Amino acid sequence: MPNEGSYAAQLELSDRIHADLPAHPEKYCMLSGDRPTGRLHLGHYFGTLIDRVRMQDMGVRTNVLIADYQVITDRDTTEHIADNVKNMVADYLAIGLDPKKTMIYAHSAVPACNQLMLPFLSLVSEAELQRNPTVKAELEASGHELTGLLLTYPVHQACDILFCKGNIVPVGRDQLPHIELTRTIARRFNKRFAPVFPEPAGLLTSTPLLPGLDGNKMSKSRGNSIEISMTADETAKRIRKSQTDGERLITFDPEGRPGVSALLTTASVCTGRSEVEIAEEIGDAGAGALKAYVTESVNDYFAPIRARREELLKDESYLLDVLAEGNARANEIAEKTLDEVRRAMGMVY
Ligand code: TRP
Repeated sequence: MPNEGSYAAQLELSDRIHADLPAHPEKYCMLSGDRPTGRLHLGHYFGTLIDRVRMQDMGVRTNVLIADYQVITDRDTTEHIADNVKNMVADYLAIGLDPKKTMIYAHSAVPACNQLMLPFLSLVSEAELQRNPTVKAELEASGHELTGLLLTYPVHQACDILFCKGNIVPVGRDQLPHIELTRTIARRFNKRFAPVFPEPAGLLTSTPLLPGLDGNKMSKSRGNSIEISMTADETAKRIRKSQTDGERLITFDPEGRPGVSALLTTASVCTGRSEVEIAEEIGDAGAGALKAYVTESVNDYFAPIRARREELLKDESYLLDVLAEGNARANEIAEKTLDEVRRAMGMVY
């Protein structure tokens, strides 16, 4: 047996749950979330959002967190946060999350969830926090100093997952160390006090990682992303400006031709066709023809989502009502869990 924390073991667990989900959706409670630092893009969509909708529609209990407190883990400003949150709710609803089935709520509105931080912090050592590879990578990428919040944000994330007794968390591979820490915290709490929490599993996403248009990691700051909220024209412009190379014959070669290959992968996830098949079809028609095909693929796929999004944004009060309702439900659940936690610790006075 590989040791439990190893990638192989987590992958196996993830595969096993993927296979079991359609048969026993009622066994699972999913928690996932996003930081409202900007608009959601195609990397979010194909990487995780689409899986959330699938699980919701299968009958899994689904919870989606707008991680507003996490915005200040590696930056000093909360500029545009209210607008980002509102747009995030619009994105969620437009892609098919149904607020009757999926609880959509914001971090800052659920004090009892955040209060789990106190007992949870007592269950991890400084060394464990210091060696988290994802925190280290985020620290480097941000160019920011290591704040107490950034150092402890995997613990905060454990609170997010455990307050609603989430047992599956759809994640990219880079998030697995956080899930491992969440499992450790749950295990230690249950052992030290009383069994309250499940040990959640990371569910690795069903789609391959979608690179940005230049082949690097997709991110808003690199200008290499296509956002769900873009218009068809903005999408066309972003794709037109993307960097390719001088070779006319289109081939799929992520190492050697990152720009061309990222375009092929973008078209592939939108059409369900393979990169090689698309490359062969375009052949020596060149980057212009490829870009035209990618633009059409993205815009066709997102046209209905974008139309719904626009409709939703006409009624801001509805979006805020959806959030308020999710917040109220999250508070009920969090207070109940916090009660169990206090009881487990004998804090009943
Ligand atoms: N860290 C995630 C992000 O950067 C957001 C998030 C916060 C999250 N809490 C979570 C994801 C709990 C999964 C589970 O987008």
